[in-house]
Amino acid sequence: MDKVVIFDTTLRDGEQAAGASLTPDEKMEIATQLDKLGVDIIEAGFPLNSREELEAIRQIANEVRRPTICALAHARPEAVDAAWEAVRNAQHPRIHVFLSSSEVHILHQLKKSRDEILQASRDMVARAKGYLDDVEFSPMDATRTEPDYLYQILEAVIDAGATTVNIPDTVGYTIPQEFCNLIDGIFKKVPNIDRAVVSVHCHNDLGLAVANSLATLDHGVRQIECTVNGIGERAGNASLEEIVMAIKTRNDLLKYTTDIDAPQISKTSRLVSDLTGMFVQPNKAIVGANAFRHESGIHQDGVLKERTTYEIMDPESVGLSETAFPLGKLSGRHAFRKRLEELGYDLEDAELHRAFAAFKDLAAKKRNLTDRDIEALVAEELRTVSETYHLEHVQVFCGDPGMPTATVRMTDPEGQILSDAAQGTGPVDAVYKAINRLIDVPNELIEFSVKSVTEGIDAIGEVTIRIESEGRRYAGRGAHTDVIVASARAYMNALNRLLSSKG
Ligand code: KIV
Ligand code: ZN
Repeated sequence: MDKVVIFDTTLRDGEQAAGASLTPDEKMEIATQLDKLGVDIIEAGFPLNSREELEAIRQIANEVRRPTICALAHARPEAVDAAWEAVRNAQHPRIHVFLSSSEVHILHQLKKSRDEILQASRDMVARAKGYLDDVEFSPMDATRTEPDYLYQILEAVIDAGATTVNIPDTVGYTIPQEFCNLIDGIFKKVPNIDRAVVSVHCHNDLGLAVANSLATLDHGVRQIECTVNGIGERAGNASLEEIVMAIKTRNDLLKYTTDIDAPQISKTSRLVSDLTGMFVQPNKAIVGANAFRHESGIHQDGVLKERTTYEIMDPESVGLSETAFPLGKLSGRHAFRKRLEELGYDLEDAELHRAFAAFKDLAAKKRNLTDRDIEALVAEELRTVSETYHLEHVQVFCGDPGMPTATVRMTDPEGQILSDAAQGTGPVDAVYKAINRLIDVPNELIEFSVKSVTEGIDAIGEVTIRIESEGRRYAGRGAHTDVIVASARAYMNALNRLLSSKG
């Protein structure tokens, strides 16, 4: 069976999703998990964006050794040079050069001639090739490019040394039949196409990114570019988990393999959602909260009698297993550590100590703790590691009638205790105002949502927010059985990200 190369661009195109910015440490955490997931290539970012971005990619290249680490560059010398600087220490480095090729982009955005575009594409691939062997080229907006011109560009960049040519459906415009015809044309009309791997990169504006990607496999494509949870520009990219599980589940028709370790999918999905602040819709295929939930009596009856009556995939195959021995308030440190190991967490002693204390605290309030509770708790503890300001205490007085009043206490970077109180229109407003009195960073709250991690009145509440400051958005997340505390933690998390991005 033919192997399909999984090129993950969660850290580049995924991070381009509105409001999904990640800190360098968060990028590193996701890259480490993508390595465990088994992706072949990690596109770690666009180094010309900022020095911080370049350094984050460089750190990933230094530490994540198995997969290929790729950096994106538009077709300019300084971008290609920055990409090389970012990935040069990787065990397997790749530079991905792109330049628009459609008439609408060339005319209105680039304001160049076709010959100039062709020349720049060829020259920048040759420049990258001067640094390393593994060079990818993408003619941006390929699906709206005049096909003969597209073939010409592909031939030129392969001659210049491109080893992968990627065909992006940049605006999510194509449909499967049309896309396959284009791929057929490429294999027929580009004389040196046998010297390159053909890749696809589909956006989801019409909800067709996964279908378009999968359809091309039978036409010779052997690399698919995708993101975890399908995050990315606008409606996002093809979703990695859907691509992988479609190939696995319908292997009777899709006779391909990937190296993805599918049981790592759920954990990876949660990590990406957690760190980017991008919710996964409940009905999302494979990783949505309802993806394996059966509500109607007839369906439940069927699944209880024979799982395959209404389930085409085993939830365990994507890492959704519930332990037969849930942890509770009598569980000890040893059982807790063991469960964490089973869930794939390898905490240092100090982290384990803090997580265990938080676990005991939670177990005193909630009877049986599920794996989701444990994961939310660990994420919460790890989140506090790189904080500039740390929330120590929050207390609220509210009710009707009454004026909601909050008191907060936190430690600053020097370990000094800061404390203040404020009144607000509601308890969350009062807490945020009290925090603002202590950390004076102008920002606007633009999104606020609460959901429960599991079911039941004693469930952990997870709050996700987005704030905006100087045109940039920062996500924040907090979890606690008390949603006001979770709200305070989410705000502190967003503020700490904002502060760390300003250095
Ligand atoms: O969508 C797109 O065209 C891209 C390219 C940079 C590959 O993301
Ligand atoms: Zn894209």
